[in-house]
Amino acid sequence: MSNSAQIGVTGLAVMGRNLARNFARNGYTVALHNRTAARTHALVEEFGHEGDFVATETAKEFVEALERPRRLMIMVKAGEPTDAVIQEFAPLLEPGDMIIDGGNAHFEDTRRRERDLRGQGIHFVGTGVSGGEEGALNGPSIMPGGSKESYASLGPMLEKISAKAPDSSPCVTHCGPDGAGHFVKMVHNGIEYADMQLIGEAYQLLRDVAGYSPAQIADIFRTWNTGRLDSYLIEITAEVLSHVDAATGKPFVDVVQDRAEQKGTGRWTVQIALDLGVPVSGIAEAVFARSLSGHADLRAASRELAGPRAKPLGDSEAAAFADRVEQALYASKIVSYTQGFHEISAGSDQYDWDIDLGAVSAIWRGGCIIRAAFLDRIRAAYDARPDLPSLLSDETFAQEIAAAQDDWREVLVAATRQGVPAPGFSAALAYYDALRADRLPAALTQGQRDFFGAHTYRRVDREGSFHTLWGGDRSEVEA
Ligand code: 6PG
Repeated sequence: MSNSAQIGVTGLAVMGRNLARNFARNGYTVALHNRTAARTHALVEEFGHEGDFVATETAKEFVEALERPRRLMIMVKAGEPTDAVIQEFAPLLEPGDMIIDGGNAHFEDTRRRERDLRGQGIHFVGTGVSGGEEGALNGPSIMPGGSKESYASLGPMLEKISAKAPDSSPCVTHCGPDGAGHFVKMVHNGIEYADMQLIGEAYQLLRDVAGYSPAQIADIFRTWNTGRLDSYLIEITAEVLSHVDAATGKPFVDVVQDRAEQKGTGRWTVQIALDLGVPVSGIAEAVFARSLSGHADLRAASRELAGPRAKPLGDSEAAAFADRVEQALYASKIVSYTQGFHEISAGSDQYDWDIDLGAVSAIWRGGCIIRAAFLDRIRAAYDARPDLPSLLSDETFAQEIAAAQDDWREVLVAATRQGVPAPGFSAALAYYDALRADRLPAALTQGQRDFFGAHTYRRVDREGSFHTLWGGDRSEVEA
């Protein structure tokens, strides 16, 4: 077998297959490998005309088909299957070769794998890939980590197969060393959960409070998609809402069980945020909303609890309410991204990744699930001020939230009065109000901790740590 393939893909389920085709369509010779060879041959049979493929059956053949330094992409399930594939191929590789993991791996696993393989001189490149099967084929947003050296060899190929942003720039950047790429992808997914939850809340408010039908709401989303909310998720929401179930003639959204599933990357985003001490309350509410939806028994047992049932508004008020919901959705979206970018910045500090937040927002403008016009403005905000403490410190976003806030509050008043849950909108507003508060009840929390556990507190007027003798004469001592 001649060692002519510039890249090899092992794991030819839908994502791996489509990425392999994408490389081939872009002029690269692609070596193919799969645990069951039938899938490899099926790919060549069906799509062989799209480019140059080298079908291989054994690990040895696969590795031998690759030019040096070898670029070997693994597209298998995260966790043990990924470790198993690495163990299979690593002994066959040589210093300078690259293993690229394009699955949704946990960044800590990526850090461990990178460390282990570095000793052997192999570059392990944990790479986020977003855009689903369509993106993998026609251009995903790609978030590689790993060494600079590996990016020098691999980057141009990834740039070629990636989505292109509206200004034609490739949606790929070297996020940083070791696990940086998978960390960025994890937060991308956390933001994706939050975006989807906020859109879901907007839908439910338009349905239950404004009284619109799914088809009417689809039209409202289509209109929103021509404005500042222009995004892939708003666009597909309109498609889903206007779809009618062929079997029953009912809106599709009414025949689907209201229990959301998750593979877990949103949950990781929240778990890691807790470890890093970053408040990602909007993303957390989105994860919790999915888990609450899945507790069918608990929900059935709670259905008779007291509370209002929404009474739809009349036509004239409904349109005004829809405008308010747009404001609330946009303001809450700004908060979700603020929280997500805070987490990336905290992860970057913690692990010395030096992640460029402007570059991350730039590569999310195309190909990925959260792609949106709005990301161009986030990029502009970070480009203008790379040390921006928070997106809310950007003047344009701050002004937009200022303009939206009355409506945002009114929407939450209506939701609360009518008993419609809006945990995402509400957490976002609470975060915003907490950030701008002069004083928070954390002072009282400190007093309580000092009372029951002598945990000490700091004073506003003097340096040092103090403890009050709560059980004695309540005098204060310096701790
Ligand atoms: C992407 C998506 C993708 C994700 C699933 C949904 O960026 O292309 O985020 O990576 O795995 O589409 O994940 P859940 O099952 O967790 O909702």
